[in-house]
Amino acid sequence: MLKRISVLVVAALTLAACGSGGGSGGGDGSITMGFSQVGAESGWRTANTKSVQDSAKKAGVTLKFSDAQQKQENQIKAIRSYIQQKVDVIAFSPVVESGWDTVLKEAKDAKIPVILTDRAVDSKDTSLYRTFLGSDFVEEGRKAGKWLVDAFKSSTDPVNIVELQGTTGSAPANDRKAGFAEEIAKDPKFKVIASQTGDFTRAKGKEVMEAFLKSNPDIDVLFAHNDDMGLGAIEAIEGAGKVPGKDIQIITIDAVKDGMQALADGKINYIVECSPLLGPQLMDLAKKVLKGEQIPTRVVTEETTFTQEQAKAALSSRQY
Ligand code: AHR
Repeated sequence: MLKRISVLVVAALTLAACGSGGGSGGGDGSITMGFSQVGAESGWRTANTKSVQDSAKKAGVTLKFSDAQQKQENQIKAIRSYIQQKVDVIAFSPVVESGWDTVLKEAKDAKIPVILTDRAVDSKDTSLYRTFLGSDFVEEGRKAGKWLVDAFKSSTDPVNIVELQGTTGSAPANDRKAGFAEEIAKDPKFKVIASQTGDFTRAKGKEVMEAFLKSNPDIDVLFAHNDDMGLGAIEAIEGAGKVPGKDIQIITIDAVKDGMQALADGKINYIVECSPLLGPQLMDLAKKVLKGEQIPTRVVTEETTFTQEQAKAALSSRQY
């Protein structure tokens, strides 16, 4: 009898250890999630933060939220503090891809499951996190490139492209650049004549585009890795006396309201959607992880694309 009881106790302890880092882990229905956000660099990010906060409330999850102001060291500090506080689950959107192994190992040793949301890490050890929920950024870059190749299919003239990259070292900047390059490489008339980071912000997008315009008189196309940089660049293009969407064709990624408005107004030519509404799926995954349920190691967000006509039709119902 005594032996049977001790076997049951060991089994119960093992389950508890697998489930969480010391919080209730959903055992009594309550879950505490530590969430480290990249920052507030773009309209997309603001919508993503709102989605996570609103969904946590709706799902009854206590959310400990921190804004890293686009700095990896702040995210590492936040994750360490969540480990110390023994939250049940940690979710974060890594500002850059590399340099996470040590802190993720600390979370694993503390038996706190980690969910990557929005952006990936390049860790070889995939046991350091349970799943990655977010967009296929390479595919987004490909969609942008495909549209461009099609838009210029009847011309044989060279096409001079400038590129505003996202935050250096971040998954969306690396992947969107790669996907776009893959598509435009199919026709040698497409040339990226300048490519620089605008850090996903409107202010930097404007500043870098001003510099591009000064040193390159013949820009045909701008590919901006997000709407905000594209919107900043539009100000620079107008400031230089050119017409955005006509003199310079513009492709961006995200499809936030301001971007969609510029697309409907003819100042942007094409937008590839990247959805920030990850909150509901994130809460669902966290609950499943804490219940010990199997979850996929990768959850890809469903997304579409918008032409100017489609933007006009979609604007009124756009949530963010
Ligand atoms: O990681 C998603 C990207 O980050 C969005 O495209 C961009 O707007 C944001 O800042």
